[in-house]
Amino acid sequence: MKVLVTGAAGFIGYGLGRRLLDQGHQVLGIDNLNDYYDVELKKSRLALLNDRDGFQFQRLDLADRKGMEDLFVSHSFDCVVNLAAQAGVRYSIENPASYVDANLVGFGNILEGCRHSKVGHLVYASSSSVYGLNTNMPFSVRHNVDHPISLYAASKKANELMAHTYSYLYNLPCTGLRFFTVYGPWGRPDMALFLFTKAILNNEPIKVFNNGDMKRDFTYIDDIVEGVIRVMEKIPEPDPDWSSDNPNPSSSRVPYKIYNIGNNQPVALMEFVEAIETALGQEALKEYLPLQPGDVPATYADVNDLITDTGFKPSTPVKQGVQRFVDWYKGYYEA
Ligand SMILES: NC(=O)c1ccc[n+]([C@@H]2O[C@H](COP(=O)([O-])OP(=O)(O)OC[C@H]3O[C@@H](n4cnc5c(N)ncnc54)[C@H](O)[C@@H]3O)[C@@H](O)[C@H]2O)c1
Repeated sequence: MKVLVTGAAGFIGYGLGRRLLDQGHQVLGIDNLNDYYDVELKKSRLALLNDRDGFQFQRLDLADRKGMEDLFVSHSFDCVVNLAAQAGVRYSIENPASYVDANLVGFGNILEGCRHSKVGHLVYASSSSVYGLNTNMPFSVRHNVDHPISLYAASKKANELMAHTYSYLYNLPCTGLRFFTVYGPWGRPDMALFLFTKAILNNEPIKVFNNGDMKRDFTYIDDIVEGVIRVMEKIPEPDPDWSSDNPNPSSSRVPYKIYNIGNNQPVALMEFVEAIETALGQEALKEYLPLQPGDVPATYADVNDLITDTGFKPSTPVKQGVQRFVDWYKGYYEA
């Protein structure tokens, strides 16, 4: 297959690109290499992809309408995996404009490109944050998700709605993936595991929000990548059981599907911290703080549809995944 991976210099995009190349696919990666976090880390990931046969890279912003049009005119993709986005819940409170540009205008350009060049399957990143105020656990793709509490979450929910429209109007097969707190080697410097590891090694306090009373369905990067690969091969079809009287939000009478990809095993934040302390052999200094605006206290993924349709269930235990991250971190930063 020839696959477009957007956000190829990002955490998940890099992991996916590597796996696709291992499988012998041709990958065109795009990324704007923005400075939301350390650009050197993005360049290091990209350098590893650039060394591989079958990989091409173009520096491009999703919101650049003309550039995106040219991209889709110059190439014919079997599948498009949209991972480029402005990520982060807390940053969306500070800088809403970048979410509008990358996640709404940018996603609109992806949809238009896929439509005009008749892409066989669009797979795009949504997020567990769409569950917002929901507390009915585990979070199911069959639940209503109309109560987001950050612009980031709202932009991801908007992507799901926009995708449905293109699936309906232009018969574009679209699959949205709600990732649950992804962690592992090459991970993001703005996320807890990276921040905590760095702070502990520097003997600085870690910020423990909601006084530690949080739960996350931490999902290891290799499980996310495996889930994306499985879903790419599973092009959605109209759901014969879908009823307009009682609509299932995760499917439709058009080729449209939503999946959760999560570990299906929420872990308390303090247990996660302990796993990092064990991996580092060093105790953390802790600063306890209230819940941050936009944050939810708990996440927990129902992955039944993923298992039924792809036969895959994420399973990496947090202790193992955290140890692999810490080993990578120490090697990469010579810490
Ligand atoms: N990591 C997680 O825990 C998590 C959880 C849920 C959803 N997601 C979603 O998964 C996707 C990948 O996340 P990630 O953790 O790899 O994040 P990331 O920030 O590491 O990767 C995103 C990449 O996209 C690029 N990018 C951002 N805006 C762009 C634009 N306008 N044009 C072109 N490139 C742009 C960035 O430079 C970055 O390299 C995102 O859509 C994110 O919202 C991630």
